[in-house]
Amino acid sequence: MGNDRMKAAPDSLLVTNEKLKTKLEVKNNLLNHVYEISSMLTSVPDLEKVLREIVDRIMTGLNFDRVIIHLINNDGVRLECVRTKGFTQIGAERALSKPLVIGKHYCYETSAILRGEPIFIKDTVNNPEATEVDRIINNYQERKSVLYVPLKLKGKVIGLIGVDRYRTRMEITQDDIESLAIFANQAAIIIENARLYDALSNEKMLSENIIRCSVNGIMVSDLDGQIRNLNPRGEEILGINNEEAKLRLIQDVFLFNDKERLRIYKALKRKEDISPFEITYQRKDNRRLTLGITAFTLTGENGDVHGAVSLITDLTEKKRMDDYLLRTEKLAALGWIASGIAHEIRNPLAGIYTTVQNMENECDTDNSHRGELKNILTEIDRIEGLIREVLNLARPLPLQIEEVDVHKLLTNTVSLVRKEATKKDIVIKTQFSKETMPTRADPNRLRQVFLNLLINAVDSITTKGKVMISTEMMEGQTKPGRWLLIRFKDNGIGIPAEVINKIFDPFFTTKSVGTGLGLTVSDKIIQDHHGIIEVESKVQKGTTFCVRLPVFLDEA
Ligand SMILES: Nc1ncnc2c1ncn2[C@@H]1O[C@H](COP(=O)(O)OP(=O)(O)OP(=O)(O)O)[C@@H](O)[C@H]1O
Ligand SMILES: [Mg+2]
Repeated sequence: MGNDRMKAAPDSLLVTNEKLKTKLEVKNNLLNHVYEISSMLTSVPDLEKVLREIVDRIMTGLNFDRVIIHLINNDGVRLECVRTKGFTQIGAERALSKPLVIGKHYCYETSAILRGEPIFIKDTVNNPEATEVDRIINNYQERKSVLYVPLKLKGKVIGLIGVDRYRTRMEITQDDIESLAIFANQAAIIIENARLYDALSNEKMLSENIIRCSVNGIMVSDLDGQIRNLNPRGEEILGINNEEAKLRLIQDVFLFNDKERLRIYKALKRKEDISPFEITYQRKDNRRLTLGITAFTLTGENGDVHGAVSLITDLTEKKRMDDYLLRTEKLAALGWIASGIAHEIRNPLAGIYTTVQNMENECDTDNSHRGELKNILTEIDRIEGLIREVLNLARPLPLQIEEVDVHKLLTNTVSLVRKEATKKDIVIKTQFSKETMPTRADPNRLRQVFLNLLINAVDSITTKGKVMISTEMMEGQTKPGRWLLIRFKDNGIGIPAEVINKIFDPFFTTKSVGTGLGLTVSDKIIQDHHGIIEVESKVQKGTTFCVRLPVFLDEA
């Protein structure tokens, strides 16, 4: 019976059914393709890959044999061709290299963009409305029947898909237009997603590059102080690598005390940046650095503070230079005054000396004033000595340069002080480098420096203690060449932080019998030898003076 009915069905109905069936199949096919490109939303959105996939799906799924995709550039007016398929090489190259400018080039592409609607031109070659630009494009793309569908996202047009059936010459139907429009809606989302991701990862790469190449150390930490990242320059300055740093807290790395930590924490919480401050940092290789630290708050999208970005600058060399310049300036100022007054004092002093000497000579041997006059002469000698020292500071020393064995010179210096030291129960130890340490210097001047440093060390120990003199050969850290390093380390009373900057000043002394010229003179002598004196001290723990001298052997 069913068969009868089938037979009975009119031909026209069968055809309509067939048509409906193919139409359904086409829609089904389209939906499949839309569904499949949608899956690209969750995978890594690489714009190139996304465009390739979209073009392929349009060709296989919607049966077009040429596809062209244009996207509007960041400037909002340039319509750039980003992908073609099915075109001749010349056709593709021209499209890719010649962007269309909205508002300047009038053609199907720009008008589809401006209208935000699909444009279908059945026969562009004979279209009387074709513009000059259209005709040029017709020519190199060999277009006839073409369809342009805008890529729209939330009402905003971001680009355009153009298709045709160049080879099969099959007709483009209303269904095709609708299908491509549906497909384009989905494609627009995926393309924009990939473009955003591209822009973001470019931005991320840019900031990563800036951080990597920065001349400052950059450390990122959270509010608890947990380090999240340390850039290569930071690794270099601090002498710890990023992986080690991430296991530590910023307050432990920089040894912030509770007060400092709280100050920084509170400021960051209030979203205040931390203005530059200086700290001393001890590296694992024992190098002590002066670091400048500035910190900025790190806020999230909602404005909450997540942590801090700290900029770390190595100020060690600058500080050393600053100290040195300050000391040199002070010396120069002292010299200027000294040479002026020394002359004025010396002449009357010479007068007094001769008078007193005459008086002494005239006194009988048993005269009780004789002793007092002798004392006056000794005191005048002392003043004269002082003036000589001050004048020495003021002018360049005439150095008697010869080849000097530093170890011999040190041993000799120790022997001068040992007796006094032993009386106070102080041991003086030496730990010399295995290499001999020859250099060209003025041995008497160097002995004067070593003697002053050694006496200062012994003086700093009230009862019982140890002074260690050690030597080392080293490569220059900032200047090339080899350097002698001589350390005088004591476990005496130490120097309080508030006076450590003054100890090289002329006449600074904390001793009842000191002149306060010892270190000033020593510094000057070492400077004249192109070397450096540095000091490190902790109250109640002790002091270390380091003398660095360049090795000069070749010079005459
Ligand atoms: N090793 C040290 N330990 C502790 N303090 C020191 C040490 N070396 C120097 N000082 C401090 O520096 C000051 C200046 O030293 P400097 O050698 O210039 O003069 P002085 O020793 O006081 O006198 P002078 O050397 O002229 O007899 C000392 O008075 C002392 O306070
Ligand atoms: Mg001294």
